[in-house]
Amino acid sequence: METDSGQENIGTLVVLGATGDLTSRLLLPGLGRLLTEQPDRRITLIGADLPALDDDRWTRTVREAFDTVEATGAAVEHALAHTGYLVTDASSPEDLRRLLGAADGIPALYFALPPAVTARAVHALHQVPLPEGTMLALEKPFGVDRESAAQLNRRITALVPEDQIFRVDHFLGKSTVLNVLGLRFTNRLFEPLWNRDHIESVEIVYDEELGLENRAGYYDRAGALVDMIQSHLLQVMALVTMDAPVSIEAADLRAVKAEALRAVRPWAGDPVRAGRRARYTAGTVDGRRLPSYADEDGVDPARGTETLAEVTLEAATWRWAGVPFVLRSGKALDRARREVAITFRDVPRVPAGLDGRIEPTVLRLCLGPDGMVLELNVNGPGDPFVADRARLETRFGAGRLNPYGEVLHGILGRDPTLSIRAEGAEHAWRVVDGIRAAWRTGRVPLEEYPAGSAGPPTWRSTHPRD
Ligand code: BG6
Repeated sequence: METDSGQENIGTLVVLGATGDLTSRLLLPGLGRLLTEQPDRRITLIGADLPALDDDRWTRTVREAFDTVEATGAAVEHALAHTGYLVTDASSPEDLRRLLGAADGIPALYFALPPAVTARAVHALHQVPLPEGTMLALEKPFGVDRESAAQLNRRITALVPEDQIFRVDHFLGKSTVLNVLGLRFTNRLFEPLWNRDHIESVEIVYDEELGLENRAGYYDRAGALVDMIQSHLLQVMALVTMDAPVSIEAADLRAVKAEALRAVRPWAGDPVRAGRRARYTAGTVDGRRLPSYADEDGVDPARGTETLAEVTLEAATWRWAGVPFVLRSGKALDRARREVAITFRDVPRVPAGLDGRIEPTVLRLCLGPDGMVLELNVNGPGDPFVADRARLETRFGAGRLNPYGEVLHGILGRDPTLSIRAEGAEHAWRVVDGIRAAWRTGRVPLEEYPAGSAGPPTWRSTHPRD
């Protein structure tokens, strides 16, 4: 099977970190969906990790993950018949050489590993001859700060060309996130208004009801700012702020996105005032009792990790100067609010005599369930001279694939369109590093909110940019 561009497809997917939670919960189900959609695809799947596992146990893991998405068909059966597990120390050149020797056709190496282990594995790969066309896919977080991301970029681009590198961000595989392109660039209605003259503010919010979910080992070192804003929400912001690409092919789309990220900076250039942070205390979310974050297993309260982060940013360009972009994400909140909310400016003047509830137009791009809402003022129902709010609402059907299915579609088809380009990753860290440095000075208090609440009470009435 060939890719759309006529290149040979990936023959083997090697998953480093195969026994990890990400592999069984997200990656393998994504693969199951993809193979169900593409019954002609033939891949060999190799799981690689430190724990000793036999092929049967691994094949069961793959089958169970495939079952969660009801994966069926010839491609699924082929993958199940051509899968195996190799005990691997990802930092050992010998182990990596053996792994690549077991691959059929062009391999894709998927690093489902913590950043420190990925860095060691990339270092070790320099001593291993890589087959022509090898694709490298790296899970988030890509490095731990700008410097380490830049170093990782240097190391991987010395191994393979940029278009064989896939810096994974599964938000770029979400239907609504991709729909930003169609909405903006195929409708006359929005793009002419998509600028500082007509847009008052933009919120990109991903509030979750989920708490820590036994992920202290990773999360307590990351926190909400790195976990969600550095990777996912800044990518969404780039899609909202970027200029129209010439095409949606990888080179064009990634170039305008990277340029958009280059322009992002803290609101008013002040990283202290631009961000705020909090962590949850004990409470109840949707009937579930959660302990205080600081008391969760594996958490070191002295780290002061935030479970709710909010940053106000600006895209310093002609199009966007002066428009606040509020990016926020938190855990254990009262409701899952996952959306991009674009608030338009007021009209210059409302005709005298037209009363009622007149508020700015708001466009909401809902990130789960996927959909879109346009909130407008209309008059007519009841008293025809009194305005009222109307909501034009649509739900998008489920995407062809789930987000990890889209990510894998790109990797196995050797198409990096949905991957983050080198400098894009570094710019996202630059923004976050500045905020984190301000937090380290102690000038931004770590506030608290009870699990199951809407966040710290003071956040409701004030805003850093007020
Ligand atoms: C992951 C974060 O990348 O994205 C999680 O590590 C978060 O903390 C998740 O819950 C949210 O994405 P989704 O698609 O699972 O809602």
